[in-house]
Amino acid sequence: MNKITIPACAAAVFMLGATPAFSADAKDNWTKNCASCHGPDGAGHTKAGRMAQVKNMTDPKYQATFTDEQAAKQIKEGLKDPTGKEKMKAFGDLFSDADIKALVDYIRTLQAK
Ligand code: HEC
Repeated sequence: MNKITIPACAAAVFMLGATPAFSADAKDNWTKNCASCHGPDGAGHTKAGRMAQVKNMTDPKYQATFTDEQAAKQIKEGLKDPTGKEKMKAFGDLFSDADIKALVDYIRTLQAK
């Protein structure tokens, strides 16, 4: 009996881990692709975030410095510093325009009221 149960269990765990990208919502996309730098809450208090010098997205003053259009463009095309070094990669291949718009909407919910 046990010989059958254990491998079946391992297969179930494996399948749970393999969430297809198209079913992910904005929060999921954020957690998986953006939180490493920007932090789960957007404050950017992560090791990679400090290295990349991300700014604090929970600060409404920072959020006021970019429009939805600018944010979407940057997510799509990425960001380079003046020397051409990549600061944030382009996500246009990974996400549709609708996914990107949902991410921008999600970012707006991160700012402190
Ligand atoms: C490798 C680290 C890294 C990752 C991963 C990352 N970013 Fe960024 N992001 C940055 C940096 C660095 C900046 C620029 C901070 C600054 O203004 O100097 C930035 C800025 C932004 C901005 C501000 C745009 C503007 O015009 O000022 C938005 C919006 C943004 N990121 C969204 C995202 C989203 C959405 C994801 C995930 C799909 C993501 N980022 C993933 C590093 C990252």
